[in-house]
Amino acid sequence: MSVSAAWSFPTTLRLAAGCVAELAETCQHHGIDRPLIVTDPGFAELRAFDAVQSSFDHPVPVFCSIRSNPVGANIDDGVEAFRSGGHDGVIAVGGGSALDCGKLIAFHAGQTRPLWDFEDIGDRWTRADAQAIAPVIAVPTTAGTGSEVGRAGVVIDEDAQRKVIIFHPKMMPIAVLSDPELTVGLPADLTVGTGMDALAHSLEALCAPSYHPMAHGIGLEGCRLVLEHLPRVVRDPGDLESRTHMMAAAAMGAVAFQKGLGGMHALAHPIGAVFDTHHGMTNAVLMPYVLAANRPAIDETITRLAAYLDVPGGTDGFIDHIVSLRGDLGVPHRLTDLGVDAGRVGEIAAAATVDPSAGGNPVPFTEAFAADVFVNACTGTLEGS
Ligand SMILES: NC(=O)c1ccc[n+]([C@@H]2O[C@H](COP(=O)([O-])OP(=O)(O)OC[C@H]3O[C@@H](n4cnc5c(N)ncnc54)[C@H](O)[C@@H]3O)[C@@H](O)[C@H]2O)c1
Ligand SMILES: [Fe+2]
Repeated sequence: MSVSAAWSFPTTLRLAAGCVAELAETCQHHGIDRPLIVTDPGFAELRAFDAVQSSFDHPVPVFCSIRSNPVGANIDDGVEAFRSGGHDGVIAVGGGSALDCGKLIAFHAGQTRPLWDFEDIGDRWTRADAQAIAPVIAVPTTAGTGSEVGRAGVVIDEDAQRKVIIFHPKMMPIAVLSDPELTVGLPADLTVGTGMDALAHSLEALCAPSYHPMAHGIGLEGCRLVLEHLPRVVRDPGDLESRTHMMAAAAMGAVAFQKGLGGMHALAHPIGAVFDTHHGMTNAVLMPYVLAANRPAIDETITRLAAYLDVPGGTDGFIDHIVSLRGDLGVPHRLTDLGVDAGRVGEIAAAATVDPSAGGNPVPFTEAFAADVFVNACTGTLEGS
């Protein structure tokens, strides 16, 4: 089966092998005459990046001074490049880090207040001058974060050593070109880490207690696509059909998590900020420990999910399935295997409870609860394992 799709939910999204060739005409269609490409330095060196440039009949300026898990200075530098180059839009190309940077640069270039004033707390986003937000076209090159269909960007405040979510409804890209061919060269560990991030989004959304049946339905199918297709792309990196389904699953995860996230992300954010671990891989390690800790509150939801997925044994069977999937995909069982220091439990637990994702956890995410999950994930203590 060869998928070629064009959706308008939650933004205009084209999903097809080779669709990055439509970039120049997409810019033209949206009235972007002087785009700035924002990508990361690693991707800018790859052959796949040529496919982005070659859509245009002239070289498009590139800003790529960003790091994985971007920091505030990356956005400041990008804003400077955007302003001094007289650009009128951003083409954000890459994984979540580059997509978030591109979105944040387009957002902040027209603002006068510091970036941190727009943290996703209450209605702080209304402080922004919405008219001054430049348009973004997103070209994801990993199948994971779903940032291409999200209205937020994640950036580290280095002074406070924490990941901050900046939100504005107009940060949603005006168009997305999801081209699975761009993800074929993604190394196995990143394919796994990013794919597990997509799963974590759908799964945490399902478990979040708020009422959002639309997001819930999308999360169910998002989980199924990852569980079916992630093992396939790891076995055969050139499997374009499964790469395509993973790109769909990534976008679906981000749509689903409007319903809420939970303990995996609440812990993964401070862990990523302090130990610079890969976001998706951190979620992947945490996944069964958070599910086990939340078990009393999610039994009904996970039993239904397991039935939908044809996984026998209800919630226990599903947690076992996740543990064995992780093993097959080479995900470590303990956070310490990612370089996390269990001794910093107090600091991580305190930061996790105030993370915006904590509110979506189906069990109250107290400091003691967060500390227990963190210590279990550091020591590999999983009930029944
Ligand atoms: N905005 C959101 O809603 C949201 C959601 C989840 C995560 N995030 C953020 O996204 C970031 C993680 O993003 P990510 O997991 O996609 O990784 P990433 O963007 O940090 O990229 C990781 C590495 O993969 C490389 N890479 C990317 N695409 C490649 C390709 N096709 N081939 C070869 N190498 C490639 C990059 O060069 C980089 O070295 C974190 O900062 C996280 O906080 C944002
Ligand atoms: Fe995530």
